[in-house]
Amino acid sequence: MQHLTIQKAINHDQALYELLLLADPSKEIVDEYIARGECYTAYISGELAGVYVIITTRPQTAEIVNIAVKQTMQKQGIGKLLIRDAIEKAKHMGAKVIEIGTGNSSIHQLSLYQKCGFRLQAIDHDFFIRHYDEEIFENGIQCRDMVRLYLDL
Ligand code: COA
Repeated sequence: MQHLTIQKAINHDQALYELLLLADPSKEIVDEYIARGECYTAYISGELAGVYVIITTRPQTAEIVNIAVKQTMQKQGIGKLLIRDAIEKAKHMGAKVIEIGTGNSSIHQLSLYQKCGFRLQAIDHDFFIRHYDEEIFENGIQCRDMVRLYLDL
């Protein structure tokens, strides 16, 4: 893979929103957490390749609330690099634990996060039924529950 540079997002333009909405179909929810947190963008040869958003949720606790890689650039290890970068950012923020949540149907994401060291913590049952208007299906499974994962830093 060519050199990847990661920097704080300078402007929240359409290309950035397209990526953020890959990970979260609700623009309202995306807007809420980019206002609360820090948004980092990854570029390869000047092209926007990925994004993640990290927020402080409780004392000494950071959470990756959005992570997405451009569809044509997925499965090349960029997601893993973004998570590793977010872990380093969380440490610099003084966090002792970093968390991430994903849907019960997000099989690849569950695999990726555990490969990056995250462990299962809890299940927020019916989270996606309560917070999203549309039904979500992935891998032939309805996305109902939020699986919460954590990594001690
Ligand atoms: N099929 C199979 N395995 C996959 C996969 C896929 N589509 N996507 C990720 N993985 C797993 C693999 O196990 C891979 O492990 P390996 O390196 O040992 O082969 C690991 O994840 C790393 O994959 P990587 O290439 O770093 O991930 P990525 O750059 O494709 O980014 C996402 C992963 C989830 C960020 C990306 O698929 C994406 O943007 N998806 C849409 C948005 C989204 O769902 N965000 C998360 C919301 S919770």
